[in-house]
Amino acid sequence: MEANQFGKNGWTPDRIGNLYGKVFVITGTTSGTGFEASKILLSKGAKVVMLNRNLKKAEDTIRSLKQGLGNDIDVINIQMDLSRQASVKKAAEEVLQTTSQIDALICNAAIAQVPKQMITEDGWESQMGTNYYGNWTLQALLFPIIEKSKGRIVTVGSMGYDMGIKTIKFDDLNWDNGYTPNNAYSQSKLAQIMSIYELQDRLQEVGKTAVKAYACHPGASRTNLISTSGSLMMRIMFYLMMPLTQSAEKGAYPQLMCATEPNLDQSGFYGPTGRSNWVGPVGAHKIEPHAKDKEVAKRLWELSEKETGVKWNI
Ligand SMILES: NC(=O)c1ccc[n+]([C@@H]2O[C@H](COP(=O)([O-])OP(=O)(O)OC[C@H]3O[C@@H](n4cnc5c(N)ncnc54)[C@H](OP(=O)(O)O)[C@@H]3O)[C@@H](O)[C@H]2O)c1
Repeated sequence: MEANQFGKNGWTPDRIGNLYGKVFVITGTTSGTGFEASKILLSKGAKVVMLNRNLKKAEDTIRSLKQGLGNDIDVINIQMDLSRQASVKKAAEEVLQTTSQIDALICNAAIAQVPKQMITEDGWESQMGTNYYGNWTLQALLFPIIEKSKGRIVTVGSMGYDMGIKTIKFDDLNWDNGYTPNNAYSQSKLAQIMSIYELQDRLQEVGKTAVKAYACHPGASRTNLISTSGSLMMRIMFYLMMPLTQSAEKGAYPQLMCATEPNLDQSGFYGPTGRSNWVGPVGAHKIEPHAKDKEVAKRLWELSEKETGVKWNI
């Protein structure tokens, strides 16, 4: 195994300096890694714009953050349901009205292991619609201000990219045939990662190298992910695997690293480097070639423009 560039304990938030004057937009902060990442960013003095679907939960989250960090932290919530394109577009507009700077957009929110095929109001399988198309549209609409800020786009993927069918099922993207929770979730996370590496190439081609795009994942972290959308069986399985997992706080480190660490190589895939990439010191680790399959990535990008009607202004 290659030595971790951040030493034997890997990347930790001690490396983050003062973030006063920096603005981070982060999705899904009511629990799990998004909550922990927000807490750490705020503790370093950043402004955090949270995008959450549930206003009551978002209010409770802000209250809890203020209780822990003090009333003068700079945090707001904008309502966004990532599974609905109309809501994502409205939220992006509100973000653009609220802030003229985004140092990093952290695409953290997701659903996972949805037991049965569900179709969103926009006509997509729920995990593809939420985790992939939701983020696609959010990233594209916020891109102009990220570009102006020489900022970053950080996608929170999953080791699931290397499970399932390990490619995009273009002829049946909604899994009308052979739906399984794992296949559909894995495809959505693979799509998220693929579009980041494709975005890098497109930015590179036109010389827009000031914007950086990163793919990472939290390993196996104790969060609400499976209890929110997974079946009872999945919840039991995750419970049994508990001793092999890490805290939600540690799960937040890869996204924090990608949002703040200077000079981080964009070609890397970042997450825990220990057992099965579930736990352990955070750093770059191996990514399988199917995640960087250029032909598939290009086709997915073009399809996404068509499906969402949203084009990137690159
Ligand atoms: N935990 C793991 O072991 C693991 C492993 C691999 C990858 N990941 C990835 O890590 C990221 C964070 O997940 P987590 O484990 O921290 O899970 P979590 O505790 O369930 O947090 C997910 C967050 O996303 C939000 N969310 C879900 N659907 C949404 C929607 N339609 N619109 C807006 N927000 C929505 C949730 O909000 P609500 O409170 O409203 O539900 C919550 O704030 C995800 O991208 C996930 O795929 C996690």
